[in-house]
Amino acid sequence: MNWQSEKVVVLGGSSGIGLATVSRLTAAGANVVAIGRDQDKLDKALAGLEGPGRAVGEALDCTDRAALDRFFGRVGPIDHLLLTLSGGEGGGRFDELDLTALRRGFEAKVWPQLEAAQAGLPALRHDGSLTFVTAISARIANPGTAGLGAINGALECMIGSLARELAPLRVNAVSPGVIDTAWWDRFPASVKTDLFRQQAETLPVGRVGQAQDVAHALQFLMENTFMTGAIIECDGGLRLL
Ligand SMILES: NC(=O)c1ccc[n+]([C@@H]2O[C@H](COP(=O)([O-])OP(=O)(O)OC[C@H]3O[C@@H](n4cnc5c(N)ncnc54)[C@H](OP(=O)(O)O)[C@@H]3O)[C@@H](O)[C@H]2O)c1
Repeated sequence: MNWQSEKVVVLGGSSGIGLATVSRLTAAGANVVAIGRDQDKLDKALAGLEGPGRAVGEALDCTDRAALDRFFGRVGPIDHLLLTLSGGEGGGRFDELDLTALRRGFEAKVWPQLEAAQAGLPALRHDGSLTFVTAISARIANPGTAGLGAINGALECMIGSLARELAPLRVNAVSPGVIDTAWWDRFPASVKTDLFRQQAETLPVGRVGQAQDVAHALQFLMENTFMTGAIIECDGGLRLL
């Protein structure tokens, strides 16, 4: 793929997996629009990126459908749409799980991704790509992750149908394992340190994932025109344990 002729929108591009993908695509030559809710954070995140491509940041809350419609109305046409918005709430053992928090987790991840995907369709090139970021919790039987699995499973269940329904648009997802990003900052530092150490000791690859690992898989799905309806597990082998 000649990235220099491609325009990409990354929703959730100010941090973590989204920012790492913006960085890769900009280095490959793409014209990228990165979305987050905080313009200052976006500007700082994008300031250090190197071309030959170009990334601009635009503040937008993807829970606001009217704002999404306005954004896609003026940004289009685009070749690729990447949805890597984070939620975060909804983890924990089921017997103690705060279902209100789980509901907020759905509201923060499932609905904005679906609203953004639907709002973005008119702007997307008919044979471009639409790529979701889910989570491996959807397909592992880890105690404490039933709620997160439900959130991400809801999205993963849609990938195949969407790939057929929206063809020739290609629809795919990457399902990450534990990745060292700001997503983990919501937990006490000791929880994060202990989990990352345990992951490094038990994962077949012997280390925790980095945002660049997932960005690499996302770029592959965007540029390989024979990939559709696929969910790539980028988890260091977590699903095998
Ligand atoms: N990190 C992991 O271990 C892991 C594992 C499995 C799956 N995932 C998934 O990977 C995706 C990316 O996570 P990450 O680890 O890269 O998290 P992150 O570093 O917290 O990045 C999340 C991004 O989403 C943006 N965002 C969140 N809500 C938004 C909204 N309503 N409107 C616009 N932008 C919004 C954030 O920007 P602002 O906050 O500035 O708005 C930020 O740019 C998420 O879907 C997450 O569930 C992560």
